[in-house]
Amino acid sequence: MQQTDILVIGSGIAGLTYALKMADQFPDKKVLVMTKAAADETNTKYAQGGIAVVNDWENDSFEKHIEDTLIAGDGLCNEEVVEIVVKEGPERVNEIIEWGARFDKEKDGDYKRGMEGGHSESRILHYKDVTGKEMERALIDAVYKQKNIEFVQHCFVVDIITQHHLGYLVHKSTTDVECFGVYVLNLATNKIEKILSKITLLATGGNGQVYRTTTNPSIATGDGVAMVYRAKGRVENMEFIQFHPTALYEAGARGQAFLITEAVRGDGGILRNKHGEAFMEKYDERKDLAPRDIVARAIDSEMKINGTEHVWLDCRHFDKEKFTEHFPNIYAKCLSIGIDISKDLIPVAPAAHYSCGGIKTDEWGQSSIKNLYACGECSSTGLHGANRLASNSLLEAMVFAHRCFLDSTNTLAESFTSSFVNWENIEKEIPDWNAGGTSEPKEMILITQSLKELQLLMSDYVGIVRNDIRLQRAMRRLDLLWEETEKLYSSSTVSPQLLELRNMITVGYLIVKGATFRKESRGLHFNTDYPEKSRLVQNIVL
Ligand code: FAD
Ligand code: SIN
Repeated sequence: MQQTDILVIGSGIAGLTYALKMADQFPDKKVLVMTKAAADETNTKYAQGGIAVVNDWENDSFEKHIEDTLIAGDGLCNEEVVEIVVKEGPERVNEIIEWGARFDKEKDGDYKRGMEGGHSESRILHYKDVTGKEMERALIDAVYKQKNIEFVQHCFVVDIITQHHLGYLVHKSTTDVECFGVYVLNLATNKIEKILSKITLLATGGNGQVYRTTTNPSIATGDGVAMVYRAKGRVENMEFIQFHPTALYEAGARGQAFLITEAVRGDGGILRNKHGEAFMEKYDERKDLAPRDIVARAIDSEMKINGTEHVWLDCRHFDKEKFTEHFPNIYAKCLSIGIDISKDLIPVAPAAHYSCGGIKTDEWGQSSIKNLYACGECSSTGLHGANRLASNSLLEAMVFAHRCFLDSTNTLAESFTSSFVNWENIEKEIPDWNAGGTSEPKEMILITQSLKELQLLMSDYVGIVRNDIRLQRAMRRLDLLWEETEKLYSSSTVSPQLLELRNMITVGYLIVKGATFRKESRGLHFNTDYPEKSRLVQNIVL
């Protein structure tokens, strides 16, 4: 058991930015950061293209970045939030530069600015093609220098603690759910511990692992969203799963696919079909640099028309030296599997990449549960609407980490009040985890096979193009998986595999439910039974 004022779950850009700010603001308080994996194993580490931010004051402007974000979001962005993120972005980027993150510069010292789909100006700051790795490195270095941050790895947060754990009835219409901390599976001891906290921040990242092929690492299992949903908090717009158009296609591969950053198309890469045709001009006048939903659907359509499992990305016309300077990681990866980008085409296919929806928050990152904040990919702030603009997520994570910091600073300044517990006595009031009646699961196949089924059904029925029959089939299969997994959960000692499966089934259910409610095609959600946009512009809140 531990008691802390500030608990941060997740060690990506969102969690660490918040932790650094809180630790600096409250030198006498301990900030506890927990992650279920190694410190830097996050979606953040894999970010390639960079961070979208207005920094060329001659050619670019806040208005242009706002406009691009709204166009990509297809009518569903919260305009106030878009303005906040775009306008507060430059200050946040300066902060991470001060913490030690490097971005590529021109010879004259000005930042290099990349172009990506949906942007009207070159505004993507980057560090070669490993921007996320560089940002994560800088953040972790800064965190280790901060004496009052305790950074704990390999601790899997199972559930958030609310008054439900004190025996109060909590249901979907309960309006005063409160968070008192979390139950955590300590992977070193295999025991579940309770961590009590006045303020908890969920920064648990995305959910790409719900699909068979994804650019996301294995940690991206939607745990935070599933926990909030179980605790009867609000999540929204889960149907908007962004498929990145160009993940490297490797025959037979499952799980995390290597990304070929959109910046490659920004620098002139051309998509070609089986016949060598540059097909994007058939689909959109912005061709290869149309927003992601359009490019991913176009590729999906070409693959179906031609009966292929991928299309090609052509970089043969690039200056090889320039390519290797900007994209050394991609160059090396391709070469390692026998692809010389100066002579060969790169096989690419869409892969699940980003969750635009998530835990519903206000413009300060407050979730619907008292004392529980959310930021980064697990949250739904209103920035992305129906389709995230490329490279807007690192920016959003930093801007909202700052806003969560400002708001929770106020919350901490007030004395802790609760309708359900007395903080002085909280340790005794909140029960320990009850593992009674459970035993080691006898067969791992019960978990691994269900996971495969989940990923297959989500990819085949709830992918880039959807329809009502597919969604109904997906829901029926999810019901069965859910029933079987809940049975296993109630009789087994918990393991990360079982916890992740349970969370991913919940996330799959939320995606299908959102998709079923949305009787239209908008942004990333395309349903052939409702190919038009509805006049009713709404968020689907679950
Ligand atoms: P993450 O960085 O994913 O961190 C999540 C953390 O939560 C991890 O530490 C994880 O271990 C922890 N966690 C999760 N569940 C639990 C649990 N139950 N218990 C304890 N800990 C838990 N965006 C851009 O803006 N620009 C780009 O160029 C870009 N490129 C990308 C390339 C790739 C390949 C990918 C996958 C994403 C890319 N994105 C990009 C998206 C962006 O990287 C992510 O949205 C962003 O980094 C998410 O940050 P985060 O802090 O919210 O989550
Ligand atoms: C990429 O580099 O193509 C990914 C950018 C993003 O997801 O924002």
